[in-house]
This record gives sequence, structure tokens and C-alpha cells, in this order.
Amino acid sequence: MNDFIFFLGRFHVLVLHLPIGMLLLAVLMEAMSRRPGFGALAPAVSLTWLAGAISALVTVALGYMHATEPGFTGPGVSLHRWAGTALAFAAIAIWAWRLEAPAIFSKIWPVPLVVVLILMTATGHLGGNLTHGSTYLTEFAPGPLRSLAAGEAAPEAAPRPPITDIAKADIYLDVIAPAFRDRCASCHNDDKKRGGLSLVRYDEMMKGGETGPVIVPKDPGKSDLYHRITVARNHVDFMPKNNKTPLDPAQVQAIRWWISIGSPASGEIGKLTPPADVRESLVKAGGL
Ligand code: HEC
Repeated sequence: MNDFIFFLGRFHVLVLHLPIGMLLLAVLMEAMSRRPGFGALAPAVSLTWLAGAISALVTVALGYMHATEPGFTGPGVSLHRWAGTALAFAAIAIWAWRLEAPAIFSKIWPVPLVVVLILMTATGHLGGNLTHGSTYLTEFAPGPLRSLAAGEAAPEAAPRPPITDIAKADIYLDVIAPAFRDRCASCHNDDKKRGGLSLVRYDEMMKGGETGPVIVPKDPGKSDLYHRITVARNHVDFMPKNNKTPLDPAQVQAIRWWISIGSPASGEIGKLTPPADVRESLVKAGGL
């Protein structure tokens, strides 16, 4: 039964595009139909709101199912849920209001339209953060904009100068953190912590997940995280899950070495004197 709910719930991310399109169309038609020359649109406006409201309700229902999957906890999830639910109810209210009290609606129609646009933007943005992590949108933004958006975010999210010499690069900030961000953060971020684990902040990462610490400094063999990225790909433990692109061998070796030297939060590679083969992997993993 659970599996079936999870199955339906995944359609949330597909169906959600319908209310976005229809409610935007409803807003546009509502505004246009009141302009001279566009009066012919008026009879269709109510139906557009209704279609938008129904598709929003279906999306919300699927969203509640989707959120029953383990790991959907945290403030990001509940904010997204509230915004989405409010949006669906706002759309129904507008549809009913236009039918029941058209005179009042006609006086203040821009207000509900703005409410719908705000709720839709908020819901979409909060939902996007759940899927991609909150730094996704600004990852390739120009430097100053990125620093601005990073704000109080983790040091991992702040822009780094491009690496030109591996010896000058930082083992965690330039090699390990980007690997986790690219391959793991879609499921292990601040808002969506699958297995209770976030891999986008050093402190949280070292605390571990539902089963406790996943990194044992100086002991890759005892580190669940290392086990997860080296076990056979068809094993249930293997990470990343769901056939997402795995870490490449150079990144795996870099992680192994980083754990073996005590998994520091920062450290200049040159000063940590990696052995030659590790150094080669670090060069590759660092994208040089
Ligand atoms: C597609 C989603 C997804 C991706 C991508 C993903 N994981 Fe996971 N991860 C999960 C889920 C779901 C769980 C909880 C179920 C389990 O423990 O297998 C989990 C659990 C874990 C755990 C155990 C946490 C605990 O305490 O139980 C570790 C360690 C882990 N992941 C590491 C990684 C690493 C490292 C990557 C990137 C290479 C990664 N994951 C990428 C979905 C994902």
C-alpha cells in the first residue's frame, strides 16, 4: 500500500505544471477580459479558474502523498505544503466568489490576482528548493549575485576562486563539497534530508543521518558513507540511489583519502602532502 502511495505521489512533480499554466492563464484572461476590445473572453474566465482550481487540488493531494516518502522533513517541506494548499484554496475561493458576488469581485479583482501570483511564486520556489537544493538557481550566477544569494548559507555554497594549481586548492571546499553537491545534494540537502542526512553543510554532515554518523574520521572502512559509494551498484545500499549518475572513481578515491586524513572541514592540499596516486585523483576530481 505504501508503495502505491509513493508511486502516485511521484506524479506530483509532473502534474504540478498544469495548475501553473492554467492559473497563469486565468490571471491573464481575468485581466484582459476587462479591457476594451477583449470582452469576448469574459464567458470563458470562470471555466479557466475552475480548471486551475481542480488541477491545483489534484496537485496538492498528490503532494501530500509524495511527502509520505521517508526523509521529507524540515521547514522547507512544511512551508511548501502550506503555500501550495493555500494556493489551491485561493483558486477555488476566486472561482466561487466570481459566481456568487460578481459585483464585489469586479471592484477589487486585482487583489486576488496578486495573491494568486504571490502564492504561486512562493510555492514553486519552495518546491524547487526541495528538488534541487536552495543553491541550485544561483550556482552559475555571476559572482556578486551568488554571494548575495548565498547570504548566511554554508561556506560550501560560497563562490570559490577557480582552481589553477591543485596544491593551492582546498581539499574539502574545492574537491569534496562540489562532488557531494553534484551527485548527492539533490536528495541530501537542507530542505530534503533523505535518510535524515544533509551533505551540503559540513557540521550537519558530520552529525550523520538516521543511523548516526556516516563518516568516521581516519577510518574509511568504518564510514557508512564510504561503504555506500563503493558497494556494488546493484546493492540496496548503493549511493546515489535511483540510478543517478554515480561519483567517478577519482572522486571516490579523493573521498577515501579525505576521510583517512580525518575528514577536515578545510585544508590546503599542498600542505596535506597526498601520495602521488591520490594527487592524480585530486587533480581529476578537482576538474583540472
Ligand atoms: C535519488 C536520491 C538520493 C541520492 C541522489 C543520494 N541518496 Fe543517499 N539516501 C537516499 C535515501 C532515500 C536514503 C535513505 C534510505 C537508505 O538508507 O538507503 C539515503 C541514505 C543515505 C545514507 C545513510 C544515512 C543514514 O544515516 O541512514 C548515506 C550515508 C547516503 N545516503 C549517502 C549518499 C551519498 C554519498 C550520495 C552521493 C554520492 C547520496 N547518498 C545520493 C537517497 C539518495
